[in-house]
Amino acid sequence: MSVNSEPIHPPGTLEQYLPKEKHLGPVDLSGLKIVAKEETSEEKARKQRVQDKPPLDECLSLYDFEAVAKSVLPMGAWAYYSSGADDEITMRENRNAYQRIWFRPRILRDVTNIDFASTILGHKTSLPIYITATALGKLGHPDGEKNLTWAAAKQGVIQMIPTLASCSFDEIVDAAEPGQVQFMQLYVNKDREITRKIVQHAEKRGIKGLFITVDAPQLGRREKDMRQKFADEGSNVQRTSGEAVDKTQGAARAISSFIDPGLSWKDMPWFRSITKMPLILKGVQCWEDAVLAAEAGLDGVVLSNHGGRQADYARSGIEVLAEVMPKLRERGLLKNGFEVYIDGGVRRAGDIIKAVALGAKAVGIGRPFLYAYSAYGHEGVVRAIQILKDEMEMNLRLLGAPTLADVTPEMIDASNLTSRQVDSAPDYLARANYEPLAGVGNGLGAQPRLISKETKASL
Ligand code: LAC
Repeated sequence: MSVNSEPIHPPGTLEQYLPKEKHLGPVDLSGLKIVAKEETSEEKARKQRVQDKPPLDECLSLYDFEAVAKSVLPMGAWAYYSSGADDEITMRENRNAYQRIWFRPRILRDVTNIDFASTILGHKTSLPIYITATALGKLGHPDGEKNLTWAAAKQGVIQMIPTLASCSFDEIVDAAEPGQVQFMQLYVNKDREITRKIVQHAEKRGIKGLFITVDAPQLGRREKDMRQKFADEGSNVQRTSGEAVDKTQGAARAISSFIDPGLSWKDMPWFRSITKMPLILKGVQCWEDAVLAAEAGLDGVVLSNHGGRQADYARSGIEVLAEVMPKLRERGLLKNGFEVYIDGGVRRAGDIIKAVALGAKAVGIGRPFLYAYSAYGHEGVVRAIQILKDEMEMNLRLLGAPTLADVTPEMIDASNLTSRQVDSAPDYLARANYEPLAGVGNGLGAQPRLISKETKASL
């Protein structure tokens, strides 16, 4: 690590999670000669791409931010943000599933005024989305998650603060405007005392909902992320065929060993006992668990496969939503204000409307906003949300639905949703941004840009 580099760990990680006996104290740098690394040709080329990137107003869809981010992000950041688990089947399916739902627009309804404001857990949002939690925000931009806080304030949406943020929790809360609503995503620590402190501190700071991640007892294998790490470590690792080497596991695994795989339904009453914040399970993937969550007295669920980063072949949130809502309804479990959200693969307002038609209260959007600020800072996120609002207005008008209450299940044809057939109309923008996986020996073809020998040697 160079001496003045930004730490990869969220601030406080070492203090909170590393056993005291492993705190070896400050590094003695006296006598150390600090030699500035020469900039590689690859880094020069990247900086040039940053200079040459299109002006913000040329970005017309969420895909455009992704395309720019892909070209300007350092490779490690792109590998971490863009990767999914295993074969990335679920990650791609998250997009495909939306393509299997078609609209049944209505005509001759007065669509002069369109209103898509809504609420989440009783808090106002200017459209039925929230900024969902994504880790390591500073890999993309020096202001990290604060970009999301500022943009959320400007656009009247709610941000969910991640446990594994690069900015400290308090920094992100302090960056909010007075009265700005924020939620928090929680990874549960093996040491419950640490978790209790985090939760109670969050409540004290005014957090309005606790989203407990339940789909990640262990973080998935994201091979692009892991392979990038191989590249980064390339010059330091003894590579003799078949021999065990120090295979680092990529950014994801490096930051997640504290997560408790023992978390279970039995812990839910404990969460209730330590906080009055609404409790939501993030990462529910079938109706049985959604019903259990409602029966356990929780306040909601996010139907999510973690952006395709956890169980590969887990179904998309939108498909699970179509399964979950009737089961909750027939059991009367929606009566106490239990809310259902989904995330994963949302790129267009049309996707949001499909989710609302199937009964979602709101959808979470993660990567697109990361890409937007990685490329353009918080203004990028402001524009990305504005694009969604513009799309929303047009879509609702063309569907004959002036308010979200007019978006009914009859407005969509989801009869193909579970068929998982190959899409009939290829999604070119999504495909253009997708970086195919590549195996060992294919060079670093899995990566967005080949890593040069020069870079490898300098690492
Ligand atoms: C990830 C975690 C940290 O998916 O949420 O990388």
